[in-house]
Amino acid sequence: MRELVFVHLLGASVWVGGHLLLLLRVFPKAWQSRDVAAIRAFEQSYEKLGIPALLLQIISGLWLASLWLPPAQWLGDSPFAALIRMKLACLLATALLGAHARLRLIPRLNPDNLGWLGVHIAAITLVSLGFVWAGLSFRVS
Ligand code: HEM
Repeated sequence: MRELVFVHLLGASVWVGGHLLLLLRVFPKAWQSRDVAAIRAFEQSYEKLGIPALLLQIISGLWLASLWLPPAQWLGDSPFAALIRMKLACLLATALLGAHARLRLIPRLNPDNLGWLGVHIAAITLVSLGFVWAGLSFRVS
């Protein structure tokens, strides 16, 4: 259990840290000079670490969730079931935002639609903080 939480926290650091760096440092700088290439360069470099980290989160998270509550009870009305559903809702939002950015926004990125990417980055970062909030609520009420 301890090792599993360790792995989960390691993946969380990479995922949340990477998105905060993108939102608070890389994007504002690129926005000022409408520098699409800087965003592309960050995405290409970060995704090699970020996607494995997200996969690690999904595997370790589902595993941890099944230790807190058997999957058959995830639709029940216990507080842990509600937290697990909150995690799964964050995962769905992440998948939808990520797929939209990767398949629609990034391939057509230009100085005119850079603002939309900014909105996207803010949304996915907020969702990543939602993951952390729901996660810590298992132990801290
Ligand atoms: C990028 C995605 C995710 C991030 C950033 C994240 C982050 C966190 C954090 C910071 C904790 C607090 C650990 C603690 O207080 O001990 C946590 C706990 C937890 N997370 Fe996640 N999580 C993610 C995805 C998931 C997914 C997909 C699930 C699956 C349902 C999940 C299930 C859990 C569970 C069950 C715990 C409680 C672990 C424990 O304290 O024993 N997480 N998560």
